[in-house]
Amino acid sequence: MGLMRHVVATRSFLFRQAEMSRPLSLGIRNMSLIRNKAFINGAWKSAASGEEFAVINPADGNVIGNVPNMNEADTHEAIVAASNSFQQWQDTTAKERSHYLKKWFDLLEKNKEELSEIITAESGKPLKEAAGEVAYGNSFIEWFAEEARRVHGEVIASPVKSKEMIFIKRPIGVTALITPWNFPIAMITRKAGAALAAGCTCVVKPAEDTPLTALALAALAQDSGIPAGVFNVVTSARENAPQVGKSLCESPLVAGISFTGSTDVGKLLYKMCSKGVKRLSLELGGNAPFIVFKSADVGKAVQGAIASKFRNCGQTCVSANRFFVQDEVFDEFVAKFKEEMKSQLILGMGSDGVSTLGPLINDAQVHKVDNIVQDAVKKGARVLVGGKTASSIGDRFFEPTLIVDVDPRMLCYNEEIFGPIAVLIKFKTEEEALRLANNTKRGLAGYFYSNDIAQIWRVAKKLEVGMAGINEGIISTAEAAFGGIKESGLGREGSHYGMEEYTYIKYLCFGNL
Ligand code: SIN
Repeated sequence: MGLMRHVVATRSFLFRQAEMSRPLSLGIRNMSLIRNKAFINGAWKSAASGEEFAVINPADGNVIGNVPNMNEADTHEAIVAASNSFQQWQDTTAKERSHYLKKWFDLLEKNKEELSEIITAESGKPLKEAAGEVAYGNSFIEWFAEEARRVHGEVIASPVKSKEMIFIKRPIGVTALITPWNFPIAMITRKAGAALAAGCTCVVKPAEDTPLTALALAALAQDSGIPAGVFNVVTSARENAPQVGKSLCESPLVAGISFTGSTDVGKLLYKMCSKGVKRLSLELGGNAPFIVFKSADVGKAVQGAIASKFRNCGQTCVSANRFFVQDEVFDEFVAKFKEEMKSQLILGMGSDGVSTLGPLINDAQVHKVDNIVQDAVKKGARVLVGGKTASSIGDRFFEPTLIVDVDPRMLCYNEEIFGPIAVLIKFKTEEEALRLANNTKRGLAGYFYSNDIAQIWRVAKKLEVGMAGINEGIISTAEAAFGGIKESGLGREGSHYGMEEYTYIKYLCFGNL
């Protein structure tokens, strides 16, 4: 069937919608990596209760497969397996761990198409974007295979002759990795790569919407020869997630938790981890400002804005959430932004190979995004593009949307939108832009465009975020220190700092010398 495109009119704007060229419900041509069991101690396991839950393709609502709905007891089994295998894994050399990770990376690369199709099927992300995520996700395993061999200690100048002092780095132990649905592979590999490289073992709890990618990762970990119990995956449905999370946070056998997800859940985990004073790494929600100053190259700013805002249909913690545009260039920015939305954004089935924008992950997300738009309209905002669900494609598709005349009373001004909604706010001065941008409890990513070098330094230092894109809308890579400040979290992932979450410093004092 030819790839004919519809053109659908919506308000004053035309957005493109791809006709489904490959009407596969699954969209997965090679099922060899699909598993319907969890992975504990090197074995594929059902839930002790026998319960399962369905994994849904958000694009069409069809069931892709069923996986175990595990509970506290199953989680405990996985923790015990990880704890037992830690005894041997911590004694492997860095070079050995590096080899295991390289082997895993090679298999991940060999299976990148299969992995992309699984991600598209369970998250709705367009195939090209899924392939980008697989490349990104795999790169963390490669990166940490290399970093494994660069965990060095220190020899300290002793204050007395009879003593020598050194610091060595040791793996913290069993780690629990609780991961989100928006990057089904990359958020696991960014954590597990570092954990395994450091000599830790792990229990992964993937999001209930996207467990199949995690299980495919486990299948390839198994094929790469990573010993049983080092990498475990526990799957559970939404209703069991609290008991699984609690078991992970409260088990005395777990040394550390790494979580990526909402700030609300992060706070709950933080509280639960306090009982055992666990090591904690939290990558939580953002509310990224994207500032366009009058000296900026507006064309480049628009390209960066589109890339940042519509990555994964806006369902990204680092997506631009609030655009602040200086009044001198506001109209030009709006006109160009509309034009680029029209030419770049094709809403449709992720598996058709044409669409650049897929569905939102589930009904709750659609409801949230719709409510944010309606609230803005009710309070006086103007919708220039989109503004409603694209039900002619499917229940979970939302039109790429552009809103102006936004003010601080509106939800879209304050909340992490996590959808394809661009919110534009006009400002007059640099001070005003910084005040508005920093007026939030979140501090993950921020972006600004300027060609004034003095302004670039000033704003880079004053923007209250953990990561800043300067004349750049896409900042994620394995080499980057990814993480936030304020309520956006604790710790850093990726880069050489990513290893620090999984090691502790042990001070050794040699006396009577
Ligand atoms: C996230 O949305 O949580 C992560 C995005 C990224 O790694 O770029």
